[in-house]
Amino acid sequence: MQNATTAPVIEVQDLTCGYGATVVLQKVSFSVCARELFFVIGGSGCGKSTLLRCLIGLLKPTQGDVAYFGKSFTQSEALDRRAILKSFGVLYQDNALWSSMTLAENVSLPLEEHTALSRRDREEIVALKLTQVGLAGAEDLFPAELSGGMKKRAALARALALDPAIVFFDEPSEGLDPITSRAMDQLILQVRETLGTTMVIVSHQLSSIFRLADRAIFLDHAAKGIIAEGAPNELAATSTDPRVRDFLNQDADSLKRPDHSSK
Ligand SMILES: Nc1ncnc2c1ncn2[C@@H]1O[C@H](COP(=O)(O)OP(=O)(O)O)[C@@H](O)[C@H]1O
Ligand SMILES: [Mg+2]
Repeated sequence: MQNATTAPVIEVQDLTCGYGATVVLQKVSFSVCARELFFVIGGSGCGKSTLLRCLIGLLKPTQGDVAYFGKSFTQSEALDRRAILKSFGVLYQDNALWSSMTLAENVSLPLEEHTALSRRDREEIVALKLTQVGLAGAEDLFPAELSGGMKKRAALARALALDPAIVFFDEPSEGLDPITSRAMDQLILQVRETLGTTMVIVSHQLSSIFRLADRAIFLDHAAKGIIAEGAPNELAATSTDPRVRDFLNQDADSLKRPDHSSK
């Protein structure tokens, strides 16, 4: 929120999208500021992953526009599109690590694809990225040798390989136990602090939402769009919409102030 006055890095205007004749989101508009930890929240099936797919170019909107740094992504020509794609990293829900490749090879992939760096330089960057996510020295491990939390870290290292301005996450704490999930949240905060990365995080994990989100949009399946927008703590306290209140106030005491239990 500290940069709420700076120009938006992402602007979504009247975005409509879906699959075939099925409309999932209708005329959705919002923007994301630099360095913001921006959450897309809501119950299962409300369109969070669908929105993410539109933002990263995997799904073409049927109407509306997505712009990055003031330039349309939806209408962009191939060259501009490639430049925009290079400016963000994505951490997929299932991590999408190649099981036949070591961590070093996985993290090196975007560097091979998008840069002309020498093998030696790539190795240096891979080591740095693995260190940044707490996996120093894990170059030669294969994904199958990693715990769930370590796989997420490895996927984050790969998402950070090209020093992206924006990182998109789909359910970063899905399938993680509470302690590992909290460690992942800490890592996300640390990356934002040290690298200044803008983060767009799809989640229905309340603990992470309250720990991390500067601002969130709340999607609803029936409404096919945003039914609330703001800081989650404020929404939980002040929203008059029962869908928003009920979602954000599940087990409120233990989730909203996770540190108080130990005091
Ligand atoms: N590939 C697809 N083809 C058709 N319908 C889909 C596809 N993916 C998702 N949907 C539908 O779109 C809606 C939103 O799904 P999704 O974006 O995955 O929700 P969320 O990520 O919020 O759980 C759901 O009704 C889902 O069944
Ligand atoms: Mg999803």
